[in-house]
Amino acid sequence: MLVSAKEMLQKAKEGHYAVGQFNINNLEWTKAILQTAEELKSPVILGVSEGAGKYMCGYTTIVGMVKGMIDELGITVPVALHLDHGSYEGAKACIAAGFSSVMFDGSHYPIEENIAKTKELVETCEKLGLSIEAEVGSIGGEEDGVVGMGECADPNECKMIADLGVSMLAAGIGNIHGKYPANWPGLRFDVLEEISKKVGAMPLVLHGGTGIPAEMIQKAIALGVSKINVNTECQLAFAAATRKYVEEGKDLEGKGFDPRKLLAPGVAAIKATVKEKMELFGSVGKA
Ligand code: 13P
Repeated sequence: MLVSAKEMLQKAKEGHYAVGQFNINNLEWTKAILQTAEELKSPVILGVSEGAGKYMCGYTTIVGMVKGMIDELGITVPVALHLDHGSYEGAKACIAAGFSSVMFDGSHYPIEENIAKTKELVETCEKLGLSIEAEVGSIGGEEDGVVGMGECADPNECKMIADLGVSMLAAGIGNIHGKYPANWPGLRFDVLEEISKKVGAMPLVLHGGTGIPAEMIQKAIALGVSKINVNTECQLAFAAATRKYVEEGKDLEGKGFDPRKLLAPGVAAIKATVKEKMELFGSVGKA
């Protein structure tokens, strides 16, 4: 079922677990994530960056693919189709195309402008029953051309944005997209704790889920994180499994060049990664 992420994240916050957002890139990615969620009876959020949106031939193509798969694969767990790090225009385009959730990343605007634009989009999403994520304090690293310096969010600004009625709030706490450098000092739990106190029941979102040690993930969930985004880790797993297949010469054996065979180890690797994350986040059996 394609649903807003609001209810699944409120349940996660109350139940002290987190729902994974896994970014999709193509049909194989989407199928692997949906099948794993169904097998594990876990709610799931499919993330689409604007770059991935273009790559997959636009938002309406993606809505068609995801709705078709939910139907044809018999997916019964709650699935949210969510725009990741959306611009103001991107969020509007996804709403029009039939996404069930959008992120408006106004973290690079001055706080007043972030508030004004978030407020307008909140009203639209409320009318349509969609969920909306906002961001305060940009996430470090680079994702699809969106570059952030890894600042820590100001807890008072978090409260201001949370009060606008967003469904979930991403707050920078030293997290970074992509691989973490060896000298990464770790998540700022002091900042997370302060934000949590200010925003109360609002589900918090942790971006940059790739490579955060398990104990830090668990501590973040205990302090109010209810949605964790994972992208790079699935990409790395897919690439490594595909590389192994080719390096072992399997594409040269029989019909090993058939894309359905060539891509199968990568798909299995995505499934294994998603399973591992769902188990770590505690969302298994919560659908
Ligand atoms: P990673 O690529 O570091 O897992 O981050 C994903 C993310 O935060 C998507 O918004």
